[in-house]
Amino acid sequence: MLDLDSPLAMDVRIGMTRYPKRLPPRWLYDETGSRLFDEITRLPEYYPTEAERHILREHAAEIVHLSGATTVVELGSGTSDKTTTLLDAFAAQQSLRAFVPVDVSVEVLNEATHRLRARYPWVDVTPVVADFTESLPIPVGGTRLVAFLGGTLGNFYPDERRLFLEHLARATTSGDYILLGTDIVKSADRLIAAYADEAGVTERFILNVLNVINNELDARFEPGTFQYIPIWDAPNTRMDLRLRSLCDQQVPIPGARVTASFSEGEEIRVEISTKFRITDVAEECAAVGLAPIRTFTDPAGDFALTLVRHA
Ligand code: AVJ
Repeated sequence: MLDLDSPLAMDVRIGMTRYPKRLPPRWLYDETGSRLFDEITRLPEYYPTEAERHILREHAAEIVHLSGATTVVELGSGTSDKTTTLLDAFAAQQSLRAFVPVDVSVEVLNEATHRLRARYPWVDVTPVVADFTESLPIPVGGTRLVAFLGGTLGNFYPDERRLFLEHLARATTSGDYILLGTDIVKSADRLIAAYADEAGVTERFILNVLNVINNELDARFEPGTFQYIPIWDAPNTRMDLRLRSLCDQQVPIPGARVTASFSEGEEIRVEISTKFRITDVAEECAAVGLAPIRTFTDPAGDFALTLVRHA
């Protein structure tokens, strides 16, 4: 059934009629997209996952100790794979009561929930299907640690990022903690390689957004007529992942009651992935009234975890 007011229909109607064309990265994560992203995390070129896992292995016990949290909420939890490193440290100190993984992909969330319940039978695991750009489902009670890992903060444009941090500050209360994973600026070569992998998984992941629109909105995108273009935008320190139309074309999208018209070479901006300098995140948090406690990095300085407190 077509729902012209669904969030996807609205995003597509707006995104396909503005110039330059843009789609929110949230729509990359249907079941196929979530599984492709999981595959990305295991690519040799995609260093952030291992770098973050390394930091979590080294510092999880300290994060548990510093936060004194009894509830962990993970935004955009996906498989919650790295999160087990953090939850294991909570388990060792027997301090965790509840875990709330929040994700838009029901299938992946359910799998993660089964795995986590088996691993931590004494923890109350309550999955929530939600889009963290729309709502922050933070449960009441206890001391909360909100984990936002993987560098996903970098998917927001600067104004959206500021709003999101403000929402986080408002959704938490005094004594709560937030743990932010962010990728660090590094050589253009390594950055581009991480988003232009040899196996072409990232290309399939980004192109999949067209399949999502075809499936959900009865659109007639032909993915073969678009080329994946990963750009390193140095002035803005971000990867800019686009799809470029290889020809002039009109794409009907009945479910959004719109026809997207492309000239040859015209691009859709699908996702940005901002890279930060080590102190940026603490400063941006402080700007919305959150108190930076500590920033952890891996030995290579590739990735950062910033622990902040709602003062
Ligand atoms: C999950 C959003 C952090 O920005 O690196 C990976 C998504 N996109 N390859 C990132 C992604 C293309 C990833 N985040």
